[in-house]
Amino acid sequence: MTYKKKLIEVALPLEAINREAAREKSIRHGHPSTLHLWWARRPLAACRAVLFASLVDDPSECVAELMKDSAKRKAAEKELKARKQLWDEQTALHTKAQASGISAPAAGPEPKLEEIVAEIERERLFEIIRDLVKWDNSNDERVLDKARAEILRSTGGNPPPVYDPFCGGGSIPLEAQRLGLEAHASDLNPVAVLINKALIDIPSRFIGKSPVNAEARKKLGSSGSWVRVTGIANDLLYYGEYIRSETEKRVGKLYPPVRLPKSEGQISISPLAYLWVRTVECPNPACRARMPLIRSYWLSKREGKTVFASPVLDASRKSVSFVIKTSGDLPKETSSRNGAHCIFCSQVVTKQMLREQALSHGVDSIPMAVVCEGKNGRVYLPFTNDDVPEAKTSFSDYLALPITNDRRWFSPPLYGLHEFRDLFTDRQIKVLDTICEIVRELKSEVETAARQAGFPADERALAEGGIGAKAYADAVTVYLAFGVNKAVTRNCTLAIWEPGMGRLAGAFGRQAMPMTWLYAETNPLAGAGGDISGTIASVAEVVEKLPSIPQGHATQKNAANGQSARAVISTDPPYYDNIGYADLSDFFYIWLRHILGKDFPDLFGTVLVPKNEELIAATTRFGGDKVKADKFFEDGLSHAFDSMKNIHMAEYPLSLFYAFKQAETEEVKDDTSDAETFSTGWETMLEGLLKAGFSVDGTWPMRTELVGSLKKDISALASSILLVCRLRPDNAAVTSRRDFQAALKKELPDALRAMQKSNIAPVDLAQAAIGPGMAVFSRYARVLETDGSPMNVRTALALINQSLDEVLAEQEGEFDADTRWALAWFDQYGFTEGPYGAAETLCTAKNTSVSGMVEAGILIAKAGKVRLLKKEELSATWDPSKDKRLPIWEITHHLIRRLEKGESGAADLIGQLGVKAQVARDLSYRLYTICERRKWATDAIAYNTLVLSWSDVQRLAAEKKPTAPAQGELI
Ligand SMILES: C[S@@+](CC[C@H](N)C(=O)[O-])C[C@H]1O[C@@H](n2cnc3c(N)ncnc32)[C@H](O)[C@@H]1O
Repeated sequence: MTYKKKLIEVALPLEAINREAAREKSIRHGHPSTLHLWWARRPLAACRAVLFASLVDDPSECVAELMKDSAKRKAAEKELKARKQLWDEQTALHTKAQASGISAPAAGPEPKLEEIVAEIERERLFEIIRDLVKWDNSNDERVLDKARAEILRSTGGNPPPVYDPFCGGGSIPLEAQRLGLEAHASDLNPVAVLINKALIDIPSRFIGKSPVNAEARKKLGSSGSWVRVTGIANDLLYYGEYIRSETEKRVGKLYPPVRLPKSEGQISISPLAYLWVRTVECPNPACRARMPLIRSYWLSKREGKTVFASPVLDASRKSVSFVIKTSGDLPKETSSRNGAHCIFCSQVVTKQMLREQALSHGVDSIPMAVVCEGKNGRVYLPFTNDDVPEAKTSFSDYLALPITNDRRWFSPPLYGLHEFRDLFTDRQIKVLDTICEIVRELKSEVETAARQAGFPADERALAEGGIGAKAYADAVTVYLAFGVNKAVTRNCTLAIWEPGMGRLAGAFGRQAMPMTWLYAETNPLAGAGGDISGTIASVAEVVEKLPSIPQGHATQKNAANGQSARAVISTDPPYYDNIGYADLSDFFYIWLRHILGKDFPDLFGTVLVPKNEELIAATTRFGGDKVKADKFFEDGLSHAFDSMKNIHMAEYPLSLFYAFKQAETEEVKDDTSDAETFSTGWETMLEGLLKAGFSVDGTWPMRTELVGSLKKDISALASSILLVCRLRPDNAAVTSRRDFQAALKKELPDALRAMQKSNIAPVDLAQAAIGPGMAVFSRYARVLETDGSPMNVRTALALINQSLDEVLAEQEGEFDADTRWALAWFDQYGFTEGPYGAAETLCTAKNTSVSGMVEAGILIAKAGKVRLLKKEELSATWDPSKDKRLPIWEITHHLIRRLEKGESGAADLIGQLGVKAQVARDLSYRLYTICERRKWATDAIAYNTLVLSWSDVQRLAAEKKPTAPAQGELI
């Protein structure tokens, strides 16, 4: 059975997708990723585009239909005419040259109307995607409807459900729902499941409901229109404020006011945060002081407002206090990445000794500074233990639970902080515990209010599928609990003070919880970072924007053995041991369970997050045995692929995000630990997929970094690779290495052409080209080596890359002789000088001359040396209509020169040059490849940029009136 090719299997407007994915990273308010922390979420822009392009047919599937549309046909015919003219000229040149015994490039395949009509239609779909991926359009029904209509058209009005069996933070299911698809999400991790419920399931049950809180009802009665779940958002804001004020009443005295100095008016105000320094006992038997571990004394590094703490030692009592200074010498730090020294006796303490001391004598904290908001910004003052009221907690066992001993995620246990309660001060536990108590108390109040507001008579709880008042109260509690968890990351002793910004930074700045030596204890009632009403308000900001229809479903399931209904699968599996999801999420689970355990008995059945079935290659779970850990992961993933094979609907491609790191190392450092190296297992992932019976026919690099900002490091590109897979037919053939190579040679050039025509960034081309290469490889049941053994993925990838180089080199055949000479010269010398003799020899091979190229204006030759002109040396007033010799090389560099000054100048040039300019894009791909290989980052970026700007410049050229001579006249 053959199925229609989908757009994603042919081309994607990758740059637009990647640009928006990168932009998303800086959105702080209302972005779904801020609902609840999850690690390594896929960008929404990428998920949205991938789902759309997986369901929409590639235009090559409907050429006959497209031809019936007279406007489309006309546009294609016009384009064909222009391309044909160029092709005819190249063919004539080639024939003439051959007749005179000169080698000249062939013109390539004749342009075809069907291909052009498909290309134009593809561009139309790309425009829809370009609009769709913008964050600002996330709730723009006009943009979304356009996309939904396209999906309906390609799916016969019956779009399939979408399923993500490793849903994590929920990016894929959420975007499926936004596109109007029935979204199904599952994960093994209860925290992830709850996040997905909160994103796609809960909202769809309460869509359009008015808020139930007394204030809103008094103000609005039953009037007002509450789109999506803006009603829930309103309730969250109201109850968030209530929780804050109630907490203030119950435990506000734990944060007594601080009296500001004379310069600040001597008023008493609530502090924002207390900064504490941890101490360990000095190992020197003659000293035994509690030595503070200070990596930095800075409190504020803000321009014009530098402040630091300076230690004051009491040698007799072996105690340390601090004074606050704004000038003078900065004291010497007492700890570094490698260890520490005692501030009293100067004893050097290695990292190992530090850990031993911490384990045997404990870690304490001493006051460093209290931060307040004064008349002119932050004020830093000294404080003592006496300024901190005692916080007696009657807290129960929910925090007395062990933190994982896998030091890559949590290093505090290395210093004796073994349980979660060790990550909080008594005061923090008291306050957080009080907040949880208030949230639970509120539930019955919300339920009563919902009854009064006329919710349907449905006594089922949310976990039982309810939609009535009881379920609504459960739903509000879920979001409030998320607000609590946001506050918890800021109200723990792993939160730090950022002197550069003068503010607190919560735990989990990255995918780990490193030990902190100087921590910031925020005042959660001061309206600053970690204020409970603020964290709940930020949850509300997300909730009010959630798409909410159609009904979404989120369940807890092991992807390696779960059963599900048939659906299109789009997913993002875990990657070996890159992220310890289960271990990390314990930190949040314990609070969620404390608040919601009774509401979701199935989800919170275990005291900590279930770990045994988690797909992770964690050596700590296998007594340090890496081989066993890897095998567990690979077997599990393989089973997951087997399950997917049974569920996935064969009419559509399956899409799989794979976190791909170019440099296969990642550093997870804390103040004291070393760098770790992890393998990405790229080949294993491919092997696993093929073994399960999938073929891979597309690979798209997804970036969250903008190419322009890659600066010197052009190799640091893809954040993940999207694999586009199909089910391989059971009767797939077996082939030989030779035939595999022949098939690559035959099929790669066209695939590459399609990608280049879609303006794929040169920086992404090599990785994207793996797709069509793997498509050839994985279409066979096996490719046999000459000795009869099956070829492995590593060899196949090497052959694909080799083939890609050949295809790109063959494209050189389309360039004129001067350009081919310049390419070969550039590869060796770049824009530096080379010997005249070498230039002459190369001229013989390429059938051109040095003087001709000097005349053409691309070369400079003097004193026995030859050099290619740099773009900045080219004439700013160059007029191609007056240039008799016009190599593509010259055109390309003039285009880049003009582009640097703005798109308009480049568009004028394209207008003048007509279709001849098109080849400049092809040359840029080739030049980029050379620069990448040679690590010439600046030039690489220039060529990359030309390709990326191509569509815009071309559009602009079309909008402008053609400047004389008319299009195509120059060629
Ligand atoms: C890479 S993350 C998914 C991230 C997600 N796409 C996002 O944007 O947030 C992989 C997920 O797989 C989950 N996982 C690990 N083992 C699993 C298993 N056996 N079954 C189901 N899910 C599992 C982890 O909990 C994690 O949420």
